[in-house]
Amino acid sequence: MNKDLSVCILLFCAVLQAHTDNQTVQYYVDLISEAYENGLTYVFPTSAYEYYSDTIPKRAAGSVAASRLSEINKWSVLVLEAGTFWNNFSDIPNMYEPIAFTHFNWEFNSTPQTTACLGVGGSTLINGLVYARGHKSDFDKWGKVAGNRRWSYETVLKYFKKSENFVYRDADAPYEPPYHGEGGDLQVEYHLPRSPQLNAWLEANRELGYEIVDYNANRLGASPSQLNTRNGRRDDDGQAFLRHARKRRNLKILTGSYVTKIQIEKESANGVEFTHKGKNYYVEVRKEVILSAGVFGTPQILMLSGVGPRKHLEEKGIEVIKDLEVGSTLRDNPTFYGLNYGTNYTEPIRPLADYVKEYLNGVGPLAIPGSTQGVGFYESSYSKGTGIPDIELMIAVANATDQLTQRYFSLTDQTYEDVWKYNNIPQTFIFHVVNLHAQSSGSVRLKSKNPFEYPVINSNFLSDPESRDINTLYEGIQICLKMGETKAMKAINATLQGGPLRACKRYQYLSKDYWYCVLRQITVNLYHPLGSCPMGKDPKKGAVVDSELRVFGIKKLRVADASVFPFALAGHPNAPTVMVGEQLGDLVKRAHGVDGNLIA
Ligand SMILES: *[C@@H]1O[C@H](CO)[C@@H](O)[C@H](O)[C@H]1NC(C)=O
Ligand SMILES: *[C@@H]1O[C@H](CO)[C@@H](O)[C@H](O)[C@H]1NC(C)=O
Ligand SMILES: *[C@@H]1O[C@H](CO)[C@@H](O)[C@H](O)[C@H]1NC(C)=O
Ligand SMILES: *[C@@H]1O[C@H](CO)[C@@H](O)[C@H](O)[C@H]1NC(C)=O
Ligand SMILES: *[C@@H]1O[C@H](CO)[C@@H](O)[C@H](O)[C@H]1NC(C)=O
Repeated sequence: MNKDLSVCILLFCAVLQAHTDNQTVQYYVDLISEAYENGLTYVFPTSAYEYYSDTIPKRAAGSVAASRLSEINKWSVLVLEAGTFWNNFSDIPNMYEPIAFTHFNWEFNSTPQTTACLGVGGSTLINGLVYARGHKSDFDKWGKVAGNRRWSYETVLKYFKKSENFVYRDADAPYEPPYHGEGGDLQVEYHLPRSPQLNAWLEANRELGYEIVDYNANRLGASPSQLNTRNGRRDDDGQAFLRHARKRRNLKILTGSYVTKIQIEKESANGVEFTHKGKNYYVEVRKEVILSAGVFGTPQILMLSGVGPRKHLEEKGIEVIKDLEVGSTLRDNPTFYGLNYGTNYTEPIRPLADYVKEYLNGVGPLAIPGSTQGVGFYESSYSKGTGIPDIELMIAVANATDQLTQRYFSLTDQTYEDVWKYNNIPQTFIFHVVNLHAQSSGSVRLKSKNPFEYPVINSNFLSDPESRDINTLYEGIQICLKMGETKAMKAINATLQGGPLRACKRYQYLSKDYWYCVLRQITVNLYHPLGSCPMGKDPKKGAVVDSELRVFGIKKLRVADASVFPFALAGHPNAPTVMVGEQLGDLVKRAHGVDGNLIA
């Protein structure tokens, strides 16, 4: 069914293209040009004081949760959202570099690191839209950790399928229908078209014995990336789940609202304090508070409300309501992205208006975030033979770098000059080497009890005493270097570019010691933070929420975002975060006596 549909869409697009009027194209050309200009000079806020208010408070969950809860029309759902709604600009997938330099980004930075990121000043990415759920074994382990089979693969797969609307538009790409859903709110599709560099990389995989697979069907191997786009436009969770729900009369979404505290009395969450347009408000909660403020915001709000590690709260002068290890873990997928290859394929450079026209028809480079055209999952020697991936490679083809790249990755001038500056961009592709199951973990702490101060984030990458994290990334680099030597890659004359990195010049270029030095210089996060309020059975062993997403020891308070992941998954967190939102919907419905249509 999907295949036919995609053909129709393409035909329809061909007709549309003829009518795409000048004005619309010009509007987008201006939007993009301005964003790139502004991106070079945008100054980030360093706190949330823009939300500050000194008025006396007045009486007065994430998108998936809000959408599911508002299905029950006798419940009223209030969403307090600090951000704003999507717009025409944020819709463009490949604007995810310039969009980092706008109000869409908090720009939280990590504290200076000693074990990684030595050649960078911090890092921020807005979700790159790759749809990769994680491996079956991750969820089976999650079910065990939580002590509840609702988090095991068999159950979570049903939730993944419920949310998804898979549209099969690249007939040459792998697709295993039993693992995908149709008709859900979140669209998943392959990008179009494929670049010759991507095809060469897929061929290189085959040469080395890696298969071309649907990686969301728990397989090792590579494929073009499956993206959360809707005919080439960003389909973020807000759009996907609130598009329809937002019209419901029992759902009120207050954008520009900044939550400062959850009022907890007698171990029960009774209401929420927030600021909105310069005024303070207090809203009383009849049923439950659902906290979906993200991996940094959720622990921050909990700690400000008196739920957190006793010693830390006391140090900051906050009355302790419940002593829990909030923010004591912070995980991510440490990523190395210093492998640039030049080729003799040249991406034709056309006027921006051409790309805009393609985008308006759902295809072309603007529709592919970060030019990440291909994704693959591999085993290191740590997981060899298990079928469980612990290395991911992403290939970002020509046009993956531009004048914003240095700012975007906060590269120091020296690092940028050594590895990026002299690339011939239309001929270059870049490998991102991702450690999927990193052992190191960091923390989120309060700077002070002032809710408008940003939290203190310490990512602590590559700090595990056994060095497993850095060893795994090194093995990932070796896979890339082997790929560079394949016939398929030689046919486009792929050549490693840039380097040696001056910071590592004391080591022989390309030796193992050299790569270990480089890894400590330019390993960054993939902006996949997770796990700051982990789910588990025992709060004495660090668990913050139970298997029904309830904060231990506090009634009427649940968390629904990537903070609750108990560990890093072999995927990208957006898909499992949506799954958490779906679970939340069912859990709250069940808790309040609604039994129809629940999965578990
Ligand atoms: C706008 O229309 C004119 C005349 O049809 C054409 O020459 C021009 O290239 C168009 N501009 C864009 C941006 O498509
Ligand atoms: C978004 O773009 C469409 C054309 O694609 C235009 O009709 C609409 O007015 C734009 N919205 C805003 C808020 O500018
Ligand atoms: C690709 O890169 C070239 C060279 O920097 C640039 O001129 C062109 O506009 C880029 N195209 C896109 C779609 O970003
Ligand atoms: C291949 O790349 C190398 C290194 O960049 C270059 O010297 C050589 O001329 C290229 N060969 C072809 C056939 O493009
Ligand atoms: C690229 O390089 C390869 C290998 O050196 C060569 O066979 C091929 O003809 C070159 N292609 C182009 C377009 O120069």
